[in-house]
Amino acid sequence: MLKGKHIGCIGVGNMGRAMIEGLLQAKVVQDAHVWIADRSSEKLRALTDTYHVQTGSNREVAQAADILILAIKPQDMPQLLEEIADMTSKDTLLISIAAGIPTALIESALPPAVPVIRVMPNLPAMIGAGASAYCLGAHASWPHGVVCSLICSAVGISVEVSEDQMDAVTALSGTGPAYVFLLAEVLTEAGAREGLPREVASYLATQTLLGGAKMIAQSELSPATLRQQVTSPNGTTAAAMAVFEQEGLRELFYRGVHAARKRSAELSQTHLPPARP
Ligand SMILES: NC(=O)c1ccc[n+]([C@@H]2O[C@H](COP(=O)([O-])OP(=O)(O)OC[C@H]3O[C@@H](n4cnc5c(N)ncnc54)[C@H](OP(=O)(O)O)[C@@H]3O)[C@@H](O)[C@H]2O)c1
Repeated sequence: MLKGKHIGCIGVGNMGRAMIEGLLQAKVVQDAHVWIADRSSEKLRALTDTYHVQTGSNREVAQAADILILAIKPQDMPQLLEEIADMTSKDTLLISIAAGIPTALIESALPPAVPVIRVMPNLPAMIGAGASAYCLGAHASWPHGVVCSLICSAVGISVEVSEDQMDAVTALSGTGPAYVFLLAEVLTEAGAREGLPREVASYLATQTLLGGAKMIAQSELSPATLRQQVTSPNGTTAAAMAVFEQEGLRELFYRGVHAARKRSAELSQTHLPPARP
């Protein structure tokens, strides 16, 4: 699919590096067709020590790339777009993973008709188990989406959403790894409070989360059905579930995710240019 295409990535910190390594390891692209730029030479070396990828300035990478991934922090985006804008054209597919930066804002800084796609990946992309959602900008079409999906698939799974759903994505899968880390923390603490050595509790809690998630992913049954199947009347699971339901655990999660979505929307607003008088 990406045969012969040159992929550029500006910013090869946590996410940029994960995406480039994923693409190279999955052999979606050849080393010689990958161009990377970063203001940190150490981060560049982390990739060039292992792969025969090409390095260049931001402008050189933007010019060389058919597909250009921007994996820098949102606050660095306006300046970078200004720097590279004239190196892009309608034949460049620009993929931004900067949280909260709308496609329209990126498009407004580029020449007319540059196709832009916005992706929200998540932290497990660093171990090839990411969940990414992407939305197409005004000039991106279905084939661009297919290319983006292929790129995201090198580090996990991906789905297309509409741009107005990106804050919900941020609140669910973008922020979600932290919810799982919290669950691991509280389960470990709960096990320790019930008399287990902390390291044993942590070991069991981690594998239980991993095993539960794998079962959900591999089963045709819904999580609710899987849960019901292991809940015998008057059994141990029923005792735990009764407490969780009575104390409003579900509602707490709904409220937490809602708060994350609202915050994501507020943060996105801060990236928008001030309204004209
Ligand atoms: N990490 C996550 O879990 C996650 C999840 C979803 C989305 N994202 C998004 O992914 C993007 C990247 O996050 P990250 O965690 O990978 O950040 P990161 O580790 O800080 O990597 C960004 C890299 O880009 C470099 N950089 C910044 N501005 C540059 C410029 N103008 N030219 C060249 N290089 C530049 C940075 O250098 P310096 O260090 O010198 O600034 C850094 O090496 C962010 O926009 C974030 O919103 C991240």
